[in-house]
Amino acid sequence: MLEALKEQPADKILALMGAYRADPRDDKIDLGVGVYKDPTGNTPVMRAVKEAERRIWSSQETKAYTGLAGEPAFADAMIGLVLGDAVPRDRVAAVATPGGTGAIRQALELIRLAAPSATVWLSNPTWPNHPSIIKYLGMPSAEYRYFDEATGGVDFDGMLADLRGVAAGDVVLLHGCCHNPTGANLTADQWQQTIAAVRAAGAVPLIDIAYQGFGDGLGADATGTRAVAGAMEECLIAASCSKNFGIYRERTGLLMAVARDAAQAKVAQGTLAFLNRQNYSFPPDHGARVVTEILTDADLRADWESELEEVRNTMLGLRQALADELRRLTNSDRFDFIARHRGMFSRLGLTPEQVEVLRKDHGVYMVGDSRINIAGLNQDTVPVLAKAIAEVASA
Ligand code: LMR
Repeated sequence: MLEALKEQPADKILALMGAYRADPRDDKIDLGVGVYKDPTGNTPVMRAVKEAERRIWSSQETKAYTGLAGEPAFADAMIGLVLGDAVPRDRVAAVATPGGTGAIRQALELIRLAAPSATVWLSNPTWPNHPSIIKYLGMPSAEYRYFDEATGGVDFDGMLADLRGVAAGDVVLLHGCCHNPTGANLTADQWQQTIAAVRAAGAVPLIDIAYQGFGDGLGADATGTRAVAGAMEECLIAASCSKNFGIYRERTGLLMAVARDAAQAKVAQGTLAFLNRQNYSFPPDHGARVVTEILTDADLRADWESELEEVRNTMLGLRQALADELRRLTNSDRFDFIARHRGMFSRLGLTPEQVEVLRKDHGVYMVGDSRINIAGLNQDTVPVLAKAIAEVASA
């Protein structure tokens, strides 16, 4: 049997992690995978997470199974964090999933079950694992324009024009905030226009929100998602706790299905639990418990929010510093968009060849589409990177 297997294409982001580790240069710079790093290059366990773990460790008496959907308290806490009071709670079905990727996967499984011929529309570009999972599941997909390479902003006219081609019953995948890989995001007004377009098409939005709190703040980053949930009869929302709680390896996420009424939410809830059972049975619990502890305890929550703000402001400072340095070195506003982008990523608009030169000659590792992880920088490496980019861009 195994001889029938073929080599699978390497995941570009994960392959880059391996290449970086294998590079012996001391001054190499890792701007690859989307993991937050502090200025010393460390990915810290957040203070509130440590404290929540300590509390769980000292009070937990059993590791017996929870429910197939995970602990209801986790769903309640996360629905509050992501949706606020945008939708009545009884219209929302939700299951804990292994990370945000697990939530995306379960959302797609739900779509395949309910609407097998629905086309899933993806922004061009999008996180490469979106099309990869969709292809693996054998689902039809299409792209809508999203990024304007010339300005580093959203090609909103192109996006709206393409959304006019969406058929009733299709699914439109939107990034809730901090677009991955570009860093270019919709304004509040553009969210409203997007909602109108998706509604007019009779399509269902699927929102991937993996970086809430990394852009303009916890509430501001949820504006689009809440507007969609409040306006649409139905939508799916895949939320990740990996980045904003810094619990990457705990695999903690939540899939929400907003239904038109409580009766349909109940059926969706049963279906989501069924899908969990088919794929991995009970979802991981530890990270979900940590998140619940933090979100439901006023002191822990305040501490988590303040540390998250520090993280966000550090990244904003690095964005501004890099944009300023590039403006100085290139004597142009070509890279000013870096300061306007939000979240962990910015797409620089360099060619794959230029990205390769940066890796080979300068030890700078970024994804082949010229996506950089801003958090891979610090005040010392910003000028080094800016110099390398300016050199490569002018060659
Ligand atoms: C990324 O885009 O780098 C992250 O979401 C990590 C991943 O799994 O790809």
